[in-house]
Amino acid sequence: MPWAYFLPIIGCFALYWIISTLRLAYPPSVYLELHQKYSPIVRTRPKTVSIADPTTIPTIYGIGSNFLKSEFYTTMAPFYKDEIMNSLFTTRDPAHHKALKRPVAGKFSMTSIRTMEPLVDECSEIFVESMKDLEGQSLDLGAWLQFYAFDVIGMITFNRRFGFMEECKDILNMISSLEFGLKYAGIVGQVPYLHPWLVGNQSMMKAIGRIPFIQLPDPIRSFVEFTEECIDMYDKDEKAKETSDFLTSLRLEEKKHKNSMPYRDLINHLSNNLLAGSDTTAISLRATLYYLIKTPSSYKRLQAEIDEADRAGKLSKFVTYSESLALEYLQVVMKEAMRLHPGVSYPLERLVPEGGAEICGQKLREGTNVGINPVVVYQNREIFGDDAAQFRPERWLEADQEQLKIMERTLLTFGTGTRPCIGKNISLMEMGKFVPQILRQFDLLWASEKPDWTVHTYWFAKQSDFIVKFKTRRK
Ligand code: HEM
Repeated sequence: MPWAYFLPIIGCFALYWIISTLRLAYPPSVYLELHQKYSPIVRTRPKTVSIADPTTIPTIYGIGSNFLKSEFYTTMAPFYKDEIMNSLFTTRDPAHHKALKRPVAGKFSMTSIRTMEPLVDECSEIFVESMKDLEGQSLDLGAWLQFYAFDVIGMITFNRRFGFMEECKDILNMISSLEFGLKYAGIVGQVPYLHPWLVGNQSMMKAIGRIPFIQLPDPIRSFVEFTEECIDMYDKDEKAKETSDFLTSLRLEEKKHKNSMPYRDLINHLSNNLLAGSDTTAISLRATLYYLIKTPSSYKRLQAEIDEADRAGKLSKFVTYSESLALEYLQVVMKEAMRLHPGVSYPLERLVPEGGAEICGQKLREGTNVGINPVVVYQNREIFGDDAAQFRPERWLEADQEQLKIMERTLLTFGTGTRPCIGKNISLMEMGKFVPQILRQFDLLWASEKPDWTVHTYWFAKQSDFIVKFKTRRK
């Protein structure tokens, strides 16, 4: 049928138009304004409400709540061998979620995470050496932290660095592909019924790929291909070392208990680590260092804490996770930075279950899309105080037990309830080791002509214009 030849071209233009023209996705500031102006429950789109009342967190997300993830998450589901491969993150089906989680949950446990520290240290050494070479120059710390986080997740996942830091560039276009994927999900996720006609339509995407001069980035392909290559290399190397990365552990498990992890699931888990664990950690590292540079009193206090621990011989050559946990101020600095700048700054969408629900005094029908944007609850003054908009890590040390409990219960940086972030402790380990490692050796100075960084939010709140100079400390 001749008209069928035009479908890919029409699809291509439709996709371009949706992504570049429609203002479908609201930045976090819009959610804040809407809730400040109206009530704690605001209708943001047809059948969609945003909630600002933190007491509703257990109802929407709590264990035992049957509010399932919304269709938004379908726009982030990767394809493998032309079939949708829902990940631990994207699956909306509780039975599938349970089945996917069971064989990998142990790998994310604290005991397992501690064995990954040498893999992280290798990357920290390269970062520190690079900063020594670049001393005194204005550098894009935002990009460097992303290079670091990608190389670390490569090590943790495959015992293999991508080489972002050595080559100082976007290897295999992973960073730009991920960015396209997030923009796509951020926008099309607001109208998810269009997804099966766009990137969700693999035949159309393939047809577009064949049109000369049109190159659509495939957000997931490079991640999946790299994962396949790493598995191949591991399987061919008979004498592969017994390191503590995910691939080695899951392959050894498979040797012991046949069929514990089918190949497709292996690809799924390993590539998901790359997708979920790189940008998120880079964003949170940027937030921590940015707020420190912009708040000299906190910077000084943290540096003093690190120096004191160093002098007392309490810090190893590479700061260990245990040592970082003993640095009380460091821990609240990271928590406060992730409160002011949560990596995910979109509402965490769920669907009202069968029978409907009453939230904030409003009766909501089954199927209504409800979500809390972490940015909104983090500005709640009754919980975080009148200075909720400011970076003040001390609030976490000054609060009494009761208040602290309420503050902790309001935290959504890593999600909560039935679907919390499984990689939380990996990131906290990585950040807890990295920040003191850097601040004990360098002074960081703001070097951008602009007074602030720039933030673009498409599900992740990604920062740019984070220009800094490193100066070696003479102690
Ligand atoms: C600072 C870093 C990180 C942040 C801010 C973050 C944030 C989040 C959030 C907010 C969710 C819940 C989303 C929702 O309810 O809609 C989530 C889920 C998830 N995250 Fe993370 N994440 C981080 C690091 C990681 C890492 C390092 C990994 C893996 C190596 C990871 C893997 C996942 C997975 C698999 C889920 C889905 C879990 C489930 O549904 O059972 N994340 N993350």
